[in-house]
Amino acid sequence: MPTRISAYFASLVTVFLVVTLTSQGQSQQQPPREESKSASAQAKAAPAKVGSAAQDGGPSACKDCHQAEYDSWEKSPHWRTTENGKGPLHQGCQACHGDAAAHLADPSDTSKLFLFSKASTEEVNKLCLSCHASDSEQAHAANSLHRDNGVSCVGCHSPHHATTKQHLLSKAQPELCYTCHLAQKPQFEMPFHHRVNEGLIECTDCHNPHGTAAPKQVRLADTQDQVCFKCHADKQGPFVYEHAPVKIDGCTSCHNTHGGPNPHMLKLSNVNLLCLQCHTTSSFSSAPGAPSFHNQATFFQACTLCHIAIHGSNFSPTFFK
Ligand code: HEC
Ligand code: HEC
Ligand code: HEC
Ligand code: HEC
Ligand code: HEC
Ligand code: HEC
Ligand code: HEC
Ligand code: HEC
Ligand code: HEC
Ligand code: HEC
Repeated sequence: MPTRISAYFASLVTVFLVVTLTSQGQSQQQPPREESKSASAQAKAAPAKVGSAAQDGGPSACKDCHQAEYDSWEKSPHWRTTENGKGPLHQGCQACHGDAAAHLADPSDTSKLFLFSKASTEEVNKLCLSCHASDSEQAHAANSLHRDNGVSCVGCHSPHHATTKQHLLSKAQPELCYTCHLAQKPQFEMPFHHRVNEGLIECTDCHNPHGTAAPKQVRLADTQDQVCFKCHADKQGPFVYEHAPVKIDGCTSCHNTHGGPNPHMLKLSNVNLLCLQCHTTSSFSSAPGAPSFHNQATFFQACTLCHIAIHGSNFSPTFFK
């Protein structure tokens, strides 16, 4: 799987970078929250004087009083807003915190500032999307279940207190997701599971937390097909003889996708029970019933012993090869 391998090397490089940066000294690290509090406390005590170089409300106007936030901003990719040529209100600190003119004139006046602690989910998302709406990941932002349930961008991203080298996340995956989706954790500890907790793949390989066109925020592959084909390309076909549930109902009609107690993460422990859900004459499925010579007291239980190409075949309409 070339994409995983390159991702693996990319993460090795990241680890190397983290180690190098850390060993270069403490100054490279994100300031802890305590510092930012005491900086604000100092700011309170400090006289309300503003440097002349900073009349336009650029970041250096804030530095003296909000050193910790300035430092974390400067190290984050958001410094690049200073190059967007859109003017001071769309750059630096003001890009997120709004027009600071009144605050600079009187630091105790925060009424015109954009305060994240007071803003609604809708307001925060609108602000961030004013720059990020065209990112490919946001193509279905209107369908975000996170947005609909009060989880704004800063529910996962932290511009000042990020703990990941990439994407400004408040925590790394999967812990980030488990802070709210604890019920999913034991699924990835089942005997047969996708190795998410082991770091081999991530929740976001299959889900787009920003919203998708598919149910359960499941991603679609680049081909607009099931996300599973991204890594399990051999199951995609097209096959001369398709097995209807694979193509139509999808992989989840037979597999638990997070993990489960059965080999191959199958939904049922006995393969025959899985198949006979559909392949009985009494079932509502359009599937033909298994032929009468399929005696379930004998080896006909092991369906995939004979119907080997269960995901589709180019040679056999009954998936024998
Ligand atoms: C002269 C010192 C000073 C300068 C310069 C200054 N601030 Fe402040 N800032 C303060 C003080 C003091 C407070 C606390 C006000 C209060 O809560 O009454 C504050 C509060 C804030 C808050 C709200 C924090 C919270 O906890 O709600 C934000 C956001 C903020 N400032 C952003 C900025 C930005 C952006 C700039 C630069 C454009 C800036 N400040 C420049 C002193 C300053
Ligand atoms: C990309 C948006 C963004 C930019 C740019 C930004 N901030 Fe913030 N700021 C936030 C968010 C979000 C919070 C809420 C706390 C958090 O999530 O870390 C915050 C919180 C603050 C606070 C309140 C203290 C706190 O931690 O709650 C201050 C003060 C502040 N920012 C100052 C600044 C200054 C000064 C700059 C520029 C040097 C700046 N911010 C740039 C998004 C931003
Ligand atoms: C539920 C958690 C969550 C929420 C809510 C969330 N994000 Fe993300 N975001 C992530 C994760 C995780 C990644 C890393 C993506 C990956 O690994 O595929 C990411 C990646 C990104 C990236 C970098 C990738 C890109 O698109 O270029 C940006 C920018 C971003 N998010 C912006 C936002 C904005 C803006 C919002 C609010 C509208 C938001 N995010 C809401 C979790 C979240
Ligand atoms: C004024 C425009 C602007 C606003 C507002 C803004 N951003 Fe950004 N953001 C940028 C730019 C520019 C970058 C750097 C882009 C790059 O490196 O390609 C960036 C980078 C990021 C990244 C890192 C992307 C990566 O691939 O690592 C994340 C995450 C992000 N922003 C989230 C947010 C969130 C959350 C908010 C709202 C609190 C926000 N941004 C508000 C312009 C903005
Ligand atoms: C701050 C809390 C929070 C965080 C962090 C969070 N989520 Fe969510 N997530 C929610 C809420 C609330 C919902 C909507 C209610 C529900 O269905 O659970 C939701 C819904 C979802 C859904 C759709 C569930 C459904 O039943 O349709 C998926 C998938 C999902 N989140 C994945 C993720 C992933 C992946 C991450 C980590 C990148 C993540 N979430 C991080 C709170 C969070
Ligand atoms: C291999 C792909 C894959 C990975 C990795 C993955 N998911 Fe899912 N997840 C799915 C699919 C597919 C569904 C829809 C299940 C269905 O329809 O039966 C789903 C459903 C969900 C739901 C909705 C509740 C439910 O059980 O139906 C949540 C919440 C969720 N996933 C969270 C997560 C979190 C958190 C992670 C990482 C810890 C994660 N997922 C990793 C594919 C994946
Ligand atoms: C990002 C890559 C990736 C995606 C996307 C992905 N898988 Fe996987 N899957 C793997 C890897 C790698 C393994 C190998 C198992 C291991 O060693 O962790 C695996 C294993 C499996 C297995 C078990 C194979 C066995 O022999 O036991 C099944 C079944 C499976 N995946 C189904 C799915 C389904 C269904 C989806 C879509 C919802 C999906 N996968 C999406 C990477 C992926
Ligand atoms: C009709 C039920 C069914 C559907 C639908 C289905 N599978 Fe399977 N899958 C099975 C069975 C049964 C096995 C075990 C095969 C065996 O026993 O040899 C299996 C095994 C696997 C394996 C491990 C062995 C191998 O062949 O690599 C993977 C990976 C897998 N399936 C992925 C998928 C993906 C991806 C999809 C969706 C495109 C999917 N499956 C849809 C029934 C199904
Ligand atoms: C979710 C329902 C479902 C499940 C589960 C399922 N199938 Fe099917 N199967 C179908 C449907 C629908 C067809 C297509 C019938 C048609 O094209 O007329 C089909 C076709 C077949 C055919 C070809 C029949 C023919 O005459 O063309 C075989 C063989 C078969 N399935 C075996 C299996 C086996 C073995 C399993 C278990 C590993 C299984 N199926 C699980 C629904 C299912
Ligand atoms: C020992 C080998 C073997 C096993 C095990 C086996 N089958 Fe078959 N199956 C066959 C043969 C042979 C046919 C007839 C093929 C033909 O008519 O060309 C067949 C045909 C079928 C058909 C097609 C019926 C039709 O009307 O077209 C279905 C559906 C089917 N089997 C389902 C199953 C299921 C479900 C199981 C497990 C409970 C199973 N088979 C186990 C050998 C097997």
